[in-house]
Amino acid sequence: MRWIRAAGRGLLALMVVLTGYAASGVQSGEDSGRGPLTLATAGDLTGYLGPLLEGWNREHPDERVTLVELPDSADETHAQMTTDLRDGRGRFDLLNIDVNWTSEFAAAGWIRPLPRDRFPLDSFLRPVVDTATYDGRLYAVPYVTNAGLLLYRKDVLAEEGVPPPRTWAELEHLAETVAPKHGLDGYAGQFLPYEGLTVNAAEAVYSAGGSILGGEGETVTVDSAAAREGIGFLARGVREGWIPERALAFKEEESKQAFQDGRLLFLRNWPYAYVVTSAQGSPVAGKVGAVPLPGPDGPGTSVLGGSNLAVSTHARHPDSAARLIAYLTSEPVQRQVLTRGALPPVRAALYEDPDLIRQFPYLPTLRQSVLTAAPRPKSPRYDQVSLVVQAVVRDAMTGHATPEAAVRRLARELADVSGR
Ligand code: GLC
Repeated sequence: MRWIRAAGRGLLALMVVLTGYAASGVQSGEDSGRGPLTLATAGDLTGYLGPLLEGWNREHPDERVTLVELPDSADETHAQMTTDLRDGRGRFDLLNIDVNWTSEFAAAGWIRPLPRDRFPLDSFLRPVVDTATYDGRLYAVPYVTNAGLLLYRKDVLAEEGVPPPRTWAELEHLAETVAPKHGLDGYAGQFLPYEGLTVNAAEAVYSAGGSILGGEGETVTVDSAAAREGIGFLARGVREGWIPERALAFKEEESKQAFQDGRLLFLRNWPYAYVVTSAQGSPVAGKVGAVPLPGPDGPGTSVLGGSNLAVSTHARHPDSAARLIAYLTSEPVQRQVLTRGALPPVRAALYEDPDLIRQFPYLPTLRQSVLTAAPRPKSPRYDQVSLVVQAVVRDAMTGHATPEAAVRRLARELADVSGR
């Protein structure tokens, strides 16, 4: 009889293992797969996320989330996340990943596919959902979107009686003539070699009508007159001095600070910079305007920014991770992402809310910029693609390569990366 009892115990153990295994999927209706979580994110520049997560923690004491804030440079955050995911220790359960990392993380098997019907994807702005899919499957849920805007000094342009620029020629002219008259530098973006430079370079190329890679990264399309024109715009700025040399060391925060300290006429940045520089106590409060990024003959094209929430393959409590994602993308929380975090929400309806538009007058411009924004090249080797773009564009901006040579080198090195 003893062996029957032992076999029974064995069967029970097997069943526990199997149920435990099933519960590790991200399915609804399970009450196992729940427990505490860690959420890793890039630097929270407006400091809103910790307090926001306290709301979840109060209501879900058994599924408490601990925030792990990584550096504010996208590249350093990428390095820390991938190191953690690669060594399989899995310190992070939920990852707030840059929109352009989804393919790489999914292809590497670091994040899990998610069931579409568990998340309100139909309520999101259209282009953001695409950034969360890979190979036809959903691997993350859009959380924050982003589009570049041109911030300008309203007071200075009003004094000169000129409207904000719509074309590169107008921007260059004002940056070269009006800025120095008012003791200001002309134009800056994020020009340090890191993801921000890739974004600024891609925007210049896209605005001129060019592209970098085609399809899912399998073709290289950068060798064009448009790419030369885009990179030429940035290189000319430094050479002619309307982009100050110090901007070659700017990330988002440094460039925002230069504008906030009243040292810049024009700044390309994400909308959070508009909110922070316009806030009470900022030296330029009340003097900040925002328009779409200019291009060669009219409004240009922004790169689609933002981040998606993904569940690590090693997540200890995947069901709780999915429940937290649903919470963070719910309407009331998305509203707080905007009102407290100054970050662009992914829920479309919020962009048409009259109260929010009163509070954040740039919302209609931002909505338009997000809807027309172009994604960065999709590639499972996106990190390599970005490093190539940064290095080559850096050389063009420091005068070590002509825009022609830069584009030729880009075409060659990108072909090497994608193995063509
Ligand atoms: C912002 C954007 C992100 C981008 C990064 C570049 O965080 O949301 O998509 O990659 O800036 O610095």
